[in-house]
Amino acid sequence: MESSVAIRGRGFGKTLRRDAWWVPPLSVALGLGLAGAYATWAIFQGNHYFVEPYLSPFYSPCITASCPAEIRLLGIGWWPLSPAILMMGVILGFRGTCYYYRKAYYRAYFMDPPACAVGEFRGDSYKGETGFPWIVQNLHRYFMYASVLVLVLLAYDTIKAFIFHGAFGIGLGSIVLTINLFLLSGYLFGCHSLRHIIGGNVDCYSCTLGGKARHSAWKKVSWFNKRHMLFAWCSLVFVCLTDLYIRLVAMGTIQDPRLF
Ligand code: FES
Repeated sequence: MESSVAIRGRGFGKTLRRDAWWVPPLSVALGLGLAGAYATWAIFQGNHYFVEPYLSPFYSPCITASCPAEIRLLGIGWWPLSPAILMMGVILGFRGTCYYYRKAYYRAYFMDPPACAVGEFRGDSYKGETGFPWIVQNLHRYFMYASVLVLVLLAYDTIKAFIFHGAFGIGLGSIVLTINLFLLSGYLFGCHSLRHIIGGNVDCYSCTLGGKARHSAWKKVSWFNKRHMLFAWCSLVFVCLTDLYIRLVAMGTIQDPRLF
């Protein structure tokens, strides 16, 4: 039986595997490429990101002078560029350094390796993430802290999506923003760094202050952690669809049905 190292050593793409190993990396390349292209277009498009009472998650928090007064966070307009650029900095940093996405795009775009037991581009000079630029992946936990703040702001936007000119109501957009918040929360709650901080770094719960509560919280985030890839994709696709929905309503292309 040949070892996987011997198989990989034969050259790029060489393998003894008989299954369609190339389907996952190809799907990831297409999926991330499409989502990235849409998000980039939406960020620089700069219009139709708000229609009462819905604010696109790409443009929250709205803190530029050009933001409509009713959605400008705390009435402040200090950020000189598009608010979407600030938000995308956090989101790109968070998703780009995510442990799941790292595996996915290393395989899909860098073929490093394309799949298990499949020959890769580079030889044996593997340095992992110990050298520049990949060492910056270690900043993931700090992007996670920033993303917690972003999630709180999105929760605030979602609550506002149920208030129509001062009165409670439910539109299809309110439901869309609620699902979007749930999926983004599920993705964040499954983060490996968050799980580590909540309880993964504890060796003995019964010897730790608040150990019972931490163990209970750790078990809950572990449920999301096991489904991290699922939430990563669902939240990525749905946040783009949420922006698209609000954009189409703001442009008058479609109507937002009022359910209540
Ligand atoms: S590991 Fe994926 S978001 Fe933290």
